[in-house]
Amino acid sequence: MGVGGTSGGRDTVLVTGASVGLGLAIARELLRRTDHRLVLTARASSLDRFAAEGITEGERILLRPLDVMDADQRVAVVEEVEARFGGVDALVNNAGISYRSVLEHAEASEVLDQMGINFLGPMELCRLVLPAMREKRRGRIVNVSSVSGMMAMPTMGLYTASKFALEGATESLWYEVRPFGVSVSLVQPGFIRSDGFTKVRLTPMSQHATDDRMDAYHPHYGFMAPFIEKLMTTTPTTSEKVARTVVKVLGQRHPKLRVPASWDAKFFYYLRRLLPRRLYHEVLYRMLPGVSTWGRMPRSLRPPPPE
Ligand SMILES: NC(=O)c1ccc[n+]([C@@H]2O[C@H](COP(=O)([O-])OP(=O)(O)OC[C@H]3O[C@@H](n4cnc5c(N)ncnc54)[C@H](OP(=O)(O)O)[C@@H]3O)[C@@H](O)[C@H]2O)c1
Repeated sequence: MGVGGTSGGRDTVLVTGASVGLGLAIARELLRRTDHRLVLTARASSLDRFAAEGITEGERILLRPLDVMDADQRVAVVEEVEARFGGVDALVNNAGISYRSVLEHAEASEVLDQMGINFLGPMELCRLVLPAMREKRRGRIVNVSSVSGMMAMPTMGLYTASKFALEGATESLWYEVRPFGVSVSLVQPGFIRSDGFTKVRLTPMSQHATDDRMDAYHPHYGFMAPFIEKLMTTTPTTSEKVARTVVKVLGQRHPKLRVPASWDAKFFYYLRRLLPRRLYHEVLYRMLPGVSTWGRMPRSLRPPPPE
């Protein structure tokens, strides 16, 4: 069965960031549930993880280096797939990173790093695969977004901006390529049970503020980091569950543009839609851990009152 439930020959699915986490779970689910040809990509330094996971090249599987920020690698992998298999039939833009920083603690280079990997890279890959999809008048693009593509939280502004950008551009793309028979979807997981909280990138300033109790933003980090860690370690949502949603979307004839992929994504989707916007922000602000003490220096560190 081809992507989109079509009959016909074997289709080719390209997945980014496929050597670990959700990308690996998507690769395994595609291997188990479909007969698609898979182009599993990872940064060159991560490629040997596939062998460790028991995934090796073969009749169905190509393993290729792809740093989504590397223009030459992007072109090379898409051109190779076009030459060998007639093009990418489905693209899954999964690779992503997450910075933890308040806006004041992020410099341009860090903002560009975040936006590059989560937004620019996926857009460039869309641009490369679309000509062949348009020509065939069929194709699938799944962009892995996040609950952060629909709501913002403190210390996650950079990540949120990248996913909002991905959501906006994907929504435009949905209109643009639908006439050519290409469908585009955003899969939006909430927190996934994973070690993701250990992989967040800190900027030099956010690292400093995390360590320095005198920093005005210290409590923001001090409360948000364990809050996010707790959500990630206790959520029932696994990478495997989200991967099943991605593969289901790839197989649907008429997939939705936005697909919330966990209970918390559905919860925040409805909360945001149903509450008046002002009330929504007020409720969320009050729900944030320790928010009443944010911005205040810990009592033990406050200077003694003047005589
Ligand atoms: N974990 C969550 O709770 C959660 C929630 C919502 C949405 N998501 C989204 O789900 C997707 C996968 O996240 P995950 O949880 O599986 O995270 P992960 O375990 O950290 O995996 C991220 C993947 O992206 C790859 N990557 C990073 N920079 C790259 C680059 N420049 N070029 C190519 N690949 C790159 C990583 O490769 P290396 O291993 O080589 O660095 C890794 O394969 C992301 O888009 C993320 O935003 C995650």
